[in-house]
Amino acid sequence: MASVSDNEFYRNDELIRELAEQYNTPLYVFDEKNIRDRCKELRSAIEYENLQIRYACKALTLQAVLKVVLDEGLWIDASSINEVDRALRAGFSPSQIYYTGEGATLTVYQNLTKRGILINCTSIDQIKLLGQASGAECSIRLNPGEGHGANTKTNTGGPSSKHGIYFDQISDALEIASSNGVRIVGLHSHIGSGTDLSHWLRIKDKTLNIARELPDVHTINLGGGLPVVYDPEEDQPMPLRQWGAALSDSMRAFSKEMGRDFRLQIEPGRYIVAASGVLLAEAQAVKETSGDNTSPGYEYVIVNSGLNHNIRPSMYGSYHPIRFLAPQTRQQQDRTKSYVVAGYLCESGDVFTVDEDGTLLTRELPQVEVGDIMVMAGVGAYSHSMKSEYNSMNLPMSILIQANGQPKVIERRGTLHDIMRREVEAYNEGVDE
Ligand SMILES: Cc1ncc(COP(=O)(O)O)c(C=O)c1O
Repeated sequence: MASVSDNEFYRNDELIRELAEQYNTPLYVFDEKNIRDRCKELRSAIEYENLQIRYACKALTLQAVLKVVLDEGLWIDASSINEVDRALRAGFSPSQIYYTGEGATLTVYQNLTKRGILINCTSIDQIKLLGQASGAECSIRLNPGEGHGANTKTNTGGPSSKHGIYFDQISDALEIASSNGVRIVGLHSHIGSGTDLSHWLRIKDKTLNIARELPDVHTINLGGGLPVVYDPEEDQPMPLRQWGAALSDSMRAFSKEMGRDFRLQIEPGRYIVAASGVLLAEAQAVKETSGDNTSPGYEYVIVNSGLNHNIRPSMYGSYHPIRFLAPQTRQQQDRTKSYVVAGYLCESGDVFTVDEDGTLLTRELPQVEVGDIMVMAGVGAYSHSMKSEYNSMNLPMSILIQANGQPKVIERRGTLHDIMRREVEAYNEGVDE
């Protein structure tokens, strides 16, 4: 994948206009072919025979997407019991799902072990809890002592990360596991989202080194975190061939050295779905502020979407390609202007063009008018799955452009009834004071 704007749909003016007209905005549109291509691309990049790719389904958990991923032969990394159940419902078998969650309760662990779902323990306390839940086997998540990600909030390794069991406590983990009747059969590390090649390969070596201390381990899971190019001028893609060859060489050498055939797993989320998703919205106002001695003035486009549909810009300062399309009835303007693209929420941080510190950024766009369609690329990962009903806004509809090119509604638009359902049920049943 070159970049998220390589999504065929992103530049398909005719189809965008058609979908916006037929289904209204805001609208998520996901491209099945794009997801399938990413799955195939990853599998063909790694030659190592004993390979299993899991999809980190927190990135995008829609049933239709899970079914596509299942059909492509991927397994699941789930981070909550509801993600486990959503995967089961999509058709995955319990043995294809494993569970990594920082929090844990005995009830959840009992539920998971009873159904044969492997737990990836992220603390020594979780190993003890698994023993109480009569779990016989687990994987453990290692914090290898360093992390890396596209930004500090997506870095999940090193001393300032809450994730995993710190590398110098692995022998304690082994001891606790055996005294609780639990065998450690898997070793996992995931150091962040947007991890570059050199960090990936260093962590692979550290993880394999630690695996030497764990006699029952047969699976090495090196996590997800493959970078995705959102901004072609800033972001570096993962050199997939080089990465895959390095993983394969190391796993073959390690299996040979240890005299056992280790299974390699990886669990990308973003890489599989980021480019598949596009968000459509409509320009509802164009307005300007005059500058003063503290700030320049800005020209704003306000669209009927916001951080409730894609929180990544306001949370991480993430860049998403954006274009505007005039409706069929109007000629697209040639003249361009610099705009801040902002959402419709009552929240001043509800801006799509902003950096990590919250500083407004502008985009040079053909002059926008009310009614133009905003097309935002790269919203397949961590946008729909982090959506909210803030300001009591109805959730968007989701469409899948199927492999045969036909659009299909895979999630209906939200309603006031959806927003209030749990309250109404609570009142009908009598709220527990
Ligand atoms: C444990 C674990 N595995 C995999 C992933 C997927 O990361 P990415 O979507 O960057 O590939 C995450 C993301 O947060 C994670 O926490």
